[in-house]
Amino acid sequence: MSDPTRAQAEEVDLRARLDHLTLSRKEGFARLADAPRRIRPELLSPRQVKTLGEEALAEYNRVRRKWHANLGPLETPQMKALHEDLWDIFDSNDQDGDKVKGGIALDAFPGLGKTTAVLAFARKLHRRAIREGGAFTGEGHERWPVCRVGLTSNTGMRDLNRAILEYFGHPGRHRGTTADFGYRALDCVLSAETTLLIVDDLHFLRWRNKSGIEVSNHFKYIANEFPVTLLMVGVGLEKRGLFSEGVTYEDAILAQTGRRTTRLGMEPFDIKTEQGRRGWRDTLLAIEERVILTNKYPGMVADDLSNYLFTRSTGHIGSLMTLINRGCQRAVRTGAERLNEELLSAVKNDAASEEARRELELAFETGQLTSRLKPLPGTAA
Ligand SMILES: Nc1ncnc2c1ncn2[C@@H]1O[C@H](COP(=O)(O)OP(=O)(O)OP(=O)(O)O)[C@@H](O)[C@H]1O
Ligand SMILES: [Mg+2]
Repeated sequence: MSDPTRAQAEEVDLRARLDHLTLSRKEGFARLADAPRRIRPELLSPRQVKTLGEEALAEYNRVRRKWHANLGPLETPQMKALHEDLWDIFDSNDQDGDKVKGGIALDAFPGLGKTTAVLAFARKLHRRAIREGGAFTGEGHERWPVCRVGLTSNTGMRDLNRAILEYFGHPGRHRGTTADFGYRALDCVLSAETTLLIVDDLHFLRWRNKSGIEVSNHFKYIANEFPVTLLMVGVGLEKRGLFSEGVTYEDAILAQTGRRTTRLGMEPFDIKTEQGRRGWRDTLLAIEERVILTNKYPGMVADDLSNYLFTRSTGHIGSLMTLINRGCQRAVRTGAERLNEELLSAVKNDAASEEARRELELAFETGQLTSRLKPLPGTAA
């Protein structure tokens, strides 16, 4: 038996400093892309834990705290499917420079893992491009295959351009007009040979006003001038008119963006079909495998908590992971060292899933719904 070492702990800490804020700079993104896998704490038996001294036990728990707080990203069926679509579109965009590249809009409700999945894709793409093309371009500039910007409320196109400059750490990011910022952004993208531009939380734009049209035009400008695949991520993009083809002049302009854009979505887990239940179960198995609790046993999450977790998360990955994370923290703190309904029922979850919970509970109780797989023929249920 080996105690978790200092070096391991430092590694974990370094990994934990990667917050979303740092991702608004290319250096932060590089840290995400190049970060080594987080080191998994060893799973000790209850007997082994008893032999730990006070200090070693505190350290073991500290490392597990961090571990459980960062269990993802899991290769959920939703994420896998999205990545396949993204590769298709991205790779088919590798045409000569004079062709306008098709854009992508990832449009789905909050908490379904859009940002997580897109960053995981960006990471793979970054690594592939660096592996294939080297860390520097032919001209000797640093290669940055991915540029990612996140919007905040009331973003206009000047702010968007500025965010791109901010990402690249361009010295001219403080002063200038929208057009100045645009030219500089194009310079950055060209010299870094950026191929994917991610704009996250696009719903912060107010589409149906002057600035919405402006921004739509701006995306058209980006599509025409920048040799990048544009990946727009947000909530209710369709409702905001990103793809509308109405009758007004504004609609027509927005429709131009719509015609060039492929719409992708992400769905909650669905347990109405056998295939859906399999996806749910595989995800629970992956979670179970990662949980480091000394009293865990096979089936603790994937079998015994399957219906319960579905009820409480309503099949939303964000709520599921919150619940698991908080449950594990409590299981370590209280010494229960396992997850069960009793412990989890004391854990609070986000408001939306708590509200939807009662309806699902009824469906499970009355047998209308199950999240479990059918037993194979010839085996006992
Ligand atoms: N594949 C995954 N594996 C593990 N955890 C995940 C996964 N996808 C999402 N999560 C967790 O779910 C939470 C919500 O995910 P995320 O922020 O990616 O959702 P989102 O769709 O971008 O939401 P929003 O619309 O609010 O920005 C995060 O805390 C994240 O850690
Ligand atoms: Mg997000």
